[in-house]
Amino acid sequence: MNQKNRSEHVGWLIFISIVGVVTVGGYFVLYPQTLYKPGEELFDTGYNLGLAGGLMMLALLLYPLRKRIKFFENLGVLPVWFKWHMVLGILGPLTIVFHSTYHVYIPFIHPQGSVNAAVAMLCMLLVSGSGTFGRFFYTKIHHGLYGHQASLTELSSSVDQAGDIKTLLSFAPEVERKLLEFRVRAEARAKESGLGLGHFIAVGFQAMSLRRAVAKELWTVMLAQAHEQKLDNAEVAKKYVEHKTAVADYINAVRDVAQFRTYERLFSWWHIFHIPLVYMMVFSAFYHVYAVHAY
Ligand code: HEM
Ligand code: HEM
Repeated sequence: MNQKNRSEHVGWLIFISIVGVVTVGGYFVLYPQTLYKPGEELFDTGYNLGLAGGLMMLALLLYPLRKRIKFFENLGVLPVWFKWHMVLGILGPLTIVFHSTYHVYIPFIHPQGSVNAAVAMLCMLLVSGSGTFGRFFYTKIHHGLYGHQASLTELSSSVDQAGDIKTLLSFAPEVERKLLEFRVRAEARAKESGLGLGHFIAVGFQAMSLRRAVAKELWTVMLAQAHEQKLDNAEVAKKYVEHKTAVADYINAVRDVAQFRTYERLFSWWHIFHIPLVYMMVFSAFYHVYAVHAY
């Protein structure tokens, strides 16, 4: 993961955590319905929140339209649309949860309430949750979130660019040998056909244990050399962190190559699951809006 992708990842985690805290906190403030109800009257707070959340989710659908329909081609840059798709895909559902004041029909547990609203809510939460999963698969087969789709060859050559591990670790040949061995095995796996879920999981665990083992070994070698050459402790610690990070980046890049084809397949399956959910959500939300105005 390069610096830009890392800060994007951290930014997203902070955003999601804040949304999580606000969602849990909102329950205690809104559930008693002392502030407002979902829509006692047209254009009161509860109603407006429903309207706002609904509009946010309609707006996020402009991303797939911008991507596919020629008419929208000149309208803004695709990565910006994609970013807003994801942000609205979280903020829209949050606004709707606030709109509902957490009062949702649940069979046997909370049987009073509107069934169509509950169906719309369930589809919305599934779509938004599935989108978050999709984002994860997406980053694995693209150059970051806003880059073009990667190919296996490109990804393999990016491992070479990840830093000349041979030169970097010339003082620790055993560590270098282990890393190269891992790469050879991983690249052989990357070429195998089928979903390869077993290999996919195994490579993930191997990468994790290799990262730990190599970090330990690196520390022992560097410490021994520092004693020999009478180097300053702080200097050694700083160099160790640099080397450890470079090695971890290398292992992660090799792991991503080995897992690439599985991620590609998982992403295409995700699409098949995601799209019908979107249709169900749109249909049930429209029906809900129709029902609350009709009755
Ligand atoms: C995906 C979008 C939406 C979802 C998931 C949703 C969900 C809900 C839920 C769970 C309730 C509470 C129902 C109950 O007490 O059992 C509710 C009530 C209500 N919603 Fe929505 N809502 C959405 C969009 C909208 C929109 C866009 C509007 C208006 C334009 C709207 C208007 C209302 C009204 C008026 C009520 C009160 C109905 C009543 O008390 O009988 N909702 N909604
Ligand atoms: C109510 C919320 C959401 C709706 C209705 C929605 C809807 C859609 C639709 C219709 C597509 C187009 C699929 C296609 O191009 O074939 C899509 C793609 C996608 N969405 Fe969402 N989404 C929502 C939330 C999210 C969230 C929260 C995220 C991520 C955090 C997300 C990430 C993605 C990704 C990664 C793609 C694939 C992009 C691509 O292939 O270009 N979505 N979504």
